Amino acid sequence: MKIEENVPFSTITTFKVGGVARYLITLESLDDLPEAVAFAKRTSLPLVPIGGGSNILGPDGVLDAVLVRVQDDTRVFADETVTVGAGASWDRVVREAVEHGLWGIENLSAIPGTMGGAVVQNIGAYGAVLSDVIESVRVFDTHQGMVREVLKSQSAFGYRTSIYKSERDRFIILSATLKLSFAPKPNLGYADLKSLDASSPVNKIRDAVLHVRAQKFPDLSEFGTAGSFFLNPIVDADTARALQSRFPNMPVFDLPEGGIKIPLGWFFEHVLQLKGVRSGAVEAWRAQALVIAAHPGATSEEIKNFVAHVTDRAKKELQIDIVPEVRVL
Ligand code: EPU
Repeated sequence: MKIEENVPFSTITTFKVGGVARYLITLESLDDLPEAVAFAKRTSLPLVPIGGGSNILGPDGVLDAVLVRVQDDTRVFADETVTVGAGASWDRVVREAVEHGLWGIENLSAIPGTMGGAVVQNIGAYGAVLSDVIESVRVFDTHQGMVREVLKSQSAFGYRTSIYKSERDRFIILSATLKLSFAPKPNLGYADLKSLDASSPVNKIRDAVLHVRAQKFPDLSEFGTAGSFFLNPIVDADTARALQSRFPNMPVFDLPEGGIKIPLGWFFEHVLQLKGVRSGAVEAWRAQALVIAAHPGATSEEIKNFVAHVTDRAKKELQIDIVPEVRVL
């Protein structure tokens, strides 16, 4: 295993802002697990598993923690199943699945981060959600000090959540097994993909998603970002109806697990008029207001102030409580 000290958040997160993490452990093999946990114990610092750093915001100073990430990036395809090491780039998994002619994750193309991070936050986009194809997840349970195989049914997956997220920092994801399909399963209900032909091959759908995302998200070579900064609020039917009577043009989305998803990006654009609004080096992204982008030189404090301001406005002007999707360390 590799232990590094004072590792800049600019190098381990896609936001590319902030100070340093006191320690970063890279697990090169499963055999490193007990030693990594023992190291964290000796330092008396919390152990914080990370993936590709695409959903975290580090502080400007020193984060007194032992970050731990899994290096394993293996991808083992066997018929319609693929078992993926937690350290694999998620989009590489999607690209390879599509190359194999496998359906199920093409709508999740171009989401930054690793397999491990994808599981923790149960990534979703364009009507698809990772948990639909998860079969099981292999974890190291730091409470029990052992490797466990957790089935999908035991993973408490929901909208951008899972047991790996709610039981914060308890589990280090080691790998995940996905069940995909050679039989075409186009998922084109989402507005951004409606123009596609239902007989489109899987690689055409991936291409379309890549195109849509390239229009909506900041270019990571120029800006820092962690994608959507906030969760879309999930409300009950009465609350949704009350909002719709105030904002008749507001679109709503029914969630398969129940509840109604309120499109915060829509409110940010059409009601709070935040699209493209800048405060110093922080921007509510010009093409997607739910996304916060950091211009070069931005600090973590600036981003947090902007977030506090937006949260306040949502409360006052929309009477909606909003919470970050991004983990603020
Ligand atoms: N909208 C606007 N203006 C905006 C942004 C959105 O009017 O500036 C409207 C859209 O027209 C649409 C609705 O709001 O009617 C929803 O917008 P969109 O489809 O762009 O998705 P989102 O709810 O803003 C979610 C995910 C994204 C994911 C997209 C695509 C969350 C927190 N975010 O965003 O995931 O890529 O759907 O399906 O659920 C992420 O989690 O970091 C992320 C980027």
